Amino acid sequence: MEKLVIEGGKRLQGRVAAGGSKNAALPVLAACLLAEGTTVLRNVPRLSDVEILLAILRELGCRVERRADDAVEIEVLDESNCTAGYDLVSKMRASVCVLGPLIGRRRRARVSMPGGCVIGVRPIDLHEKGLSALGARMTLERGYLVAEVPAAGLQGTEIFLGGAFGSSVTGTTNVLTAAVYAAGTTVIESAACEPEVVDLAEMLVKMGAKIDGIGSPRLTIQGVRTLKGVEHSVIPDRIEAGTYLAGAAITRGDVTVTDCRPDHLRAASQILREMGMILEAGKTTLRAHHPETPLKPVDLTTLVYPGFPTDLQAQFMAALCVADGISVVTEKIYPDRFMHVPELLRMGAELRKTGSTVVVHGVPHLVGAPVRASDLRASAALVIAGCAAWGETEVHEIHHIDRGYDRIEAKLNGLGAGIRRVK
Ligand code: EPU
Repeated sequence: MEKLVIEGGKRLQGRVAAGGSKNAALPVLAACLLAEGTTVLRNVPRLSDVEILLAILRELGCRVERRADDAVEIEVLDESNCTAGYDLVSKMRASVCVLGPLIGRRRRARVSMPGGCVIGVRPIDLHEKGLSALGARMTLERGYLVAEVPAAGLQGTEIFLGGAFGSSVTGTTNVLTAAVYAAGTTVIESAACEPEVVDLAEMLVKMGAKIDGIGSPRLTIQGVRTLKGVEHSVIPDRIEAGTYLAGAAITRGDVTVTDCRPDHLRAASQILREMGMILEAGKTTLRAHHPETPLKPVDLTTLVYPGFPTDLQAQFMAALCVADGISVVTEKIYPDRFMHVPELLRMGAELRKTGSTVVVHGVPHLVGAPVRASDLRASAALVIAGCAAWGETEVHEIHHIDRGYDRIEAKLNGLGAGIRRVK
């Protein structure tokens, strides 16, 4: 088991590049199943979640080659297997993103049901509802979601994908990647508007799909007969970028994230400004620096895009732990996504949780402690908390962080952090 040992009390300063987005790369990779010919994807991050999906694509008959330059080449050679098995799917919930492409192209899918998840109950009823509306017959067989498309094929229709929490990101990508091959017109109402969905839709259009309303909650899709392999570059990871900016805030530092999309980080930038940080956006850079005054407390609520992302809630809560006053953090997407709270308490934070809200009483500083990473974003929060805390922090179970951050310790050390990865 590896751990990160962090010598804290450092100000993060300098420039750091955001990598390709994990949550964009996964559906975009899965969508390669739809294409005839070879697809070359660039800016594909080197993450364990991505490697799991590449392994699933190999099982599904694809030739997958990683090039040295963060590009991945994918060619579908054999379409006979339609099963994404338990061994791989159980390692990563997002493997369910192959469901839509398999139904769309191969007209049959057998995908292991994703199991429980530490950040809360994560149903896939909206995926099933949308794919059923297109005509797929969905059944559950011994833990596998089995979808069969009748001889007449998928038929375009109007689908409402709204749920109690807004829209579903992966639900939208699954319905979209099936609807591209459905006869006639499909309208997805209450589609997710996240940049990761936009990236997928833009790649599908390059492949030959007909999609209107990209980036809006109403996607209109005219089915086509074939899609071809293309070249596409995955968008920068807005959550990785936001994590480094939260690192600037908690350490009262000065961080410029390069290779990013500042327009994807508007809600996070606004919160940072309210916290007293000075933000400077370039075309592909975003700088956050601290004016030597104490951080101000803020009220923050997670929402679907363009609202504040749930995937940055833990990192921003860590920063608010050292603000001068009381902040209120409310989680509207995953009401139970607070596993970082008990760990931050171990570092001297003062937090009171009531339901899906945490009241943060700012303290002058955090203190290093051994802590346990419980999920990807909670681990990132603990790492930046460790950079700011007095003394030494050990973050255990860091396989979670490697799921979504490529060499986080190298990138943060480039900003002046003192982090060692220890076996
Ligand atoms: N939901 C339903 N029914 C469904 C699908 C979702 O009720 O059929 C609910 C969920 O329980 C949740 C909300 O809708 O309360 C939103 O879930 P969504 O489906 O949008 O999440 P997802 O697609 O499974 C993606 C990201 C998550 C991110 C969420 C929200 C990927 C691979 N994962 O998950 O990323 O938190 O959107 O933005 O894109 C992470 O990277 O750490 C991560 C968890």
